[in-house]
Amino acid sequence: MHGSVAPSDSPSMVPGVSPAIYGEADFCRIAELIHAETGIVLSERKKMLAYSRLAPLVRRSALTSFGAFLDTLADDPRTMTEVIAALTTNHTYFHREPHHFEHFESVVRPELLRRADAGADVRIWSAGCSTGEEIWTLMMVLLGRDRAAGLKLARGKLIALASDISVNALASARAAHYPASALEALPEPLRRAWCVPASGSAGEPRLAIAPEVQALVRFRELNLMGEWPMNRPFDVIFCRNVMIYFDIPTKERLIERFARQLAPGGYLYIGHSERVSGPATALLEPVGPTIYRRKGHA
Ligand SMILES: C[S@@+](CC[C@H](N)C(=O)[O-])C[C@H]1O[C@@H](n2cnc3c(N)ncnc32)[C@H](O)[C@@H]1O
Repeated sequence: MHGSVAPSDSPSMVPGVSPAIYGEADFCRIAELIHAETGIVLSERKKMLAYSRLAPLVRRSALTSFGAFLDTLADDPRTMTEVIAALTTNHTYFHREPHHFEHFESVVRPELLRRADAGADVRIWSAGCSTGEEIWTLMMVLLGRDRAAGLKLARGKLIALASDISVNALASARAAHYPASALEALPEPLRRAWCVPASGSAGEPRLAIAPEVQALVRFRELNLMGEWPMNRPFDVIFCRNVMIYFDIPTKERLIERFARQLAPGGYLYIGHSERVSGPATALLEPVGPTIYRRKGHA
């Protein structure tokens, strides 16, 4: 795991901000705000988690109550961005759900290599990329175990987008270095081909993603609930473990948007506990566990 988030509630007190100034009404306002902005549903169980994540921001503001702090957000987009980053769950790791990468390597990669060989562009999107482990894994699998062949592919028209709503998570993703132990989950030949020692790291050894791989990925702050600036379709979209925090209508709308953003024959990978339902079922066919292909000819 790399990121700011504990998966469970931690009702620890934050010095200088008493939980006494944080009531049910404050939590309801936070839950409504975060749902409206991001689609994330904060259940009652998350009440103290929200307190411990937001109290440092309240303390920094020097305001004396959560209510007063929440009142300022409508006119303060920078702090709003920080509130969203504080309340998102960024848990992720390299080679997560390996069956997706095995499918990608054996079924999708050969198709993409053929396209690249024919001079066509190859477009990949990691939506909800968190701290980057997903897109880096995907890029390494795409480039493959043979460094020379991978570098040739990297010189082609490869477009990889990685987006997230959390600016903090994106900063770690862009930094592209991780504890060496975090990269152990990757197949060794990929790690050997595409990771290098991170410079200037004291303490636990760290590895960086090779500069040639870093050069292929564009990171963007993007709220999936808003407008999407991309107008060309993707061959592959990964959106995993993002929609679990959304309600069903939000999930269904989002999956339909992903389906429409795929080229015919393109692939959508979603998280292990997620399902395709609603209007997208007419556009996508299941081709493996939590793997879908956009209907139509490539
Ligand atoms: C649990 S992480 C999943 C990371 C990675 N996809 C994986 O499966 O390991 C969920 C990510 O979704 C992002 N997220 C949540 N709501 C979002 C939204 N409305 N728009 C964009 N990203 C969002 C969070 O910031 C977080 O980084």
